[in-house]
Amino acid sequence: MNIAVRYYSKSGNTKRIAEAIAEGSGTHAVSITDEPTLSERIDILFLGGAPYANVMAPELRRYAECLVRDRIGKVVLFTTSNWSHRTVKGLQKILQVKGIPVAEGHFYAHMLNISGKLDAAREFGRKYGSNNCLQEEKV
Ligand SMILES: Cc1cc2nc3c(=O)[nH]c(=O)nc-3n(C[C@H](O)[C@H](O)[C@H](O)COP(=O)(O)O)c2cc1C
Repeated sequence: MNIAVRYYSKSGNTKRIAEAIAEGSGTHAVSITDEPTLSERIDILFLGGAPYANVMAPELRRYAECLVRDRIGKVVLFTTSNWSHRTVKGLQKILQVKGIPVAEGHFYAHMLNISGKLDAAREFGRKYGSNNCLQEEKV
């Protein structure tokens, strides 16, 4: 199974969660600014970002808008923030319009508790990566 972890992160919180998910699922986390396109078909794409002044970064929006249905099995979302899950909702909307399957659950970490969520993020990645069975994160 081909698994990829992609994220957008300004100040490093989402990056840390992305790296933990990647560790759990046996892959590497890559910033969408370093690699703006997927070079191969991906079965499970973990995709994450954060809200800034109530909206997701335009870079992440563009990335999601350019994903190709035929090249992705399913997207699993994650986010970090102060309170908002808006990034996940925004991404769900974009991906659903494109017909790209999105897992129902998503992973959330509060910006002040990133370290405290790293084990859970690893576990989230591990469960999804190892047996394709999403354990939804309670938020
Ligand atoms: C300029 C700015 C605006 C923010 N706006 C929001 C917001 O509207 N809602 C929210 O829940 N968190 C907001 N946050 C908190 C960030 O989403 C949070 O710190 C997140 O973990 C940042 O992720 P990153 O370190 O990967 O960039 C904001 C942070 C900054 C710096």
